[in-house]
Amino acid sequence: MRFTVTDLLAKKREKQKITMLTAYDYPFAQIVDEAGIDMILVGDSLSMVIQGNETTLPVTVDEIIYHTKIVVRATKRAMVVADMPFMSYQISVEDAVRNAGRLVKEAGAQAVKLEGGREIIRQIKAITEAEIPVIGHLGLTPQAVLRMGGYKLQGKIPEQAQRIKEDAILLQEAGVVAIVLEVIPSGLAKDITESLEIPTIGIGAGVNCDGQVLVVHDLLGLFEKFTPKFVKKYLNLRDEILKAIKQYKEEVEKGEFPDKEHSF
Ligand code: KIV
Repeated sequence: MRFTVTDLLAKKREKQKITMLTAYDYPFAQIVDEAGIDMILVGDSLSMVIQGNETTLPVTVDEIIYHTKIVVRATKRAMVVADMPFMSYQISVEDAVRNAGRLVKEAGAQAVKLEGGREIIRQIKAITEAEIPVIGHLGLTPQAVLRMGGYKLQGKIPEQAQRIKEDAILLQEAGVVAIVLEVIPSGLAKDITESLEIPTIGIGAGVNCDGQVLVVHDLLGLFEKFTPKFVKKYLNLRDEILKAIKQYKEEVEKGEFPDKEHSF
């Protein structure tokens, strides 16, 4: 039985932490699911960690659908959340509902995630009215990187903090089932978390959120371009992979592989 929206809200009520990680392909999704992570996000971060783009802006709805299908196929227990990419919901309410519908109907996602606050309330209400669970995303919203001028801490000055807090309340009223809070001060995240009935899922937002999310490639040490302060590398997988591939190359070149054990 998959983790559902009901389980998500129950975890908040019962003060149990919610776990979320990204995954974009079959082997990683299978491992994340087997580890018992509650929610898997097919994030638009795939634009950077899988496709090698500088930002999350280029990824398309069709590409998110392709990866979400694979992640759904690979998993049994986790709730699979598909990110709505840049320009798939900003232009119109109709676009937003149509694209959210594709992520559920064609890809098999159990929820969708949208970045933004008061400016996308109509879209959130319409997607929710179409019976699709929505997860909000406030604070550092990477799709706004051009306006923000980089990936910077948000909500530092009181007016900014107040706006994020107000947006969180508006998102809850519009029907979102959880809110991702990215790169905001821990005190602000705590304040928002305590003022909401729905869970908050933090990334660079301190320990007081109801749950945590990370990009799996960051956690495993597979993304070498930059490491934000909030990322804990649990492994240096890139180094391990590089070592193994170099050893293979050397053994082939020396005629040591395949040896008797690996030959017929
Ligand atoms: O795209 C993504 O991976 C995300 C997480 C960083 C929350 O939105």
